[in-house]
Amino acid sequence: MTTLAAALAASDGRAAGPTADEAGAPAVRVRGVRREFAGRAVLAGIDLDIAPGEFVALLGRSGSGKSTLLRILAGLDPDATGHATVPDRNAVVFQDPRLLPWARVLDNVALGLKGKGARAAAGAALAEVGLGGHERAWPATLSGGEAQRAALARALVRSPGLLLLDEPFGALDALTRIRMHTLLRDLCRRHRPAVLLVTHDVDEAILLADRVLVLTDGRLSLDEPVRLAEARHRSDREFGALRARLLAELGVTDDETDGETGEEMSIETDVGAE
Ligand SMILES: Nc1ncnc2c1ncn2[C@@H]1O[C@H](COP(=O)(O)OP(=O)(O)OP(=O)(O)O)[C@@H](O)[C@H]1O
Ligand SMILES: [Mg+2]
Repeated sequence: MTTLAAALAASDGRAAGPTADEAGAPAVRVRGVRREFAGRAVLAGIDLDIAPGEFVALLGRSGSGKSTLLRILAGLDPDATGHATVPDRNAVVFQDPRLLPWARVLDNVALGLKGKGARAAAGAALAEVGLGGHERAWPATLSGGEAQRAALARALVRSPGLLLLDEPFGALDALTRIRMHTLLRDLCRRHRPAVLLVTHDVDEAILLADRVLVLTDGRLSLDEPVRLAEARHRSDREFGALRARLLAELGVTDDETDGETGEEMSIETDVGAE
């Protein structure tokens, strides 16, 4: 089998004016991706397409291999096998914002950008995530939500064809998380990257995504389109039905969700703990 590193081909999923052959081509195309650790297959043959501009959420129990798949798509794992075609520009946001403590916020966002307009673009990205005025702040002075906004700005200023998010809101309090959902949805509508969001939060997945995947035993065991209006409400019957399907696939029993109601569920339904 061809190693993934050799097969990783860059395709700009955002490129304007694709040729006839490229029209309709997915931004991400994954075939037969495998990853073993010490002889144990964590990913046992993943097939996945993500269309340009499509928002896909990935759920799975803790240790199921979500971050492993995300790292492979980010080009950070040379030891995976299989085939993956990804856009030539991608950006990753992790749960930890990973800002350099010795660089001011603007410099963190502009880090690695080339050209005269880099700092102006970084400033515009900060304004877009609501951090205008914090350009000269040190990362240590930001709240958790602000730091994660800066991490989003740093990702978006690179105009990624693929935005990879690994539990980006997992460390935030519930109210901040709700605000970040709105911000992320708005940013994605404006910039239209293909998105893969890894999350433990079933409601977060349904609120944000066009499609929700579940990773079980090394394979994508469920691939569900979210057929809900743009304005999504947890109290909608369809929302509840999809939540129930996803929780069942994740092996979360009724006993585990008993006593949790609408709003609480959105915040606390965490499938990570085993
Ligand atoms: N570098 C590594 N060496 C050995 N084992 C690893 C390595 N990276 C991941 N694993 C193992 O692969 C499995 C999947 O890990 P991964 O981090 O992808 O899970 P996850 O679904 O993201 O979990 P969580 O929801 O807890 O973040 C785990 O059992 C983990 O211990
Ligand atoms: Mg993980």
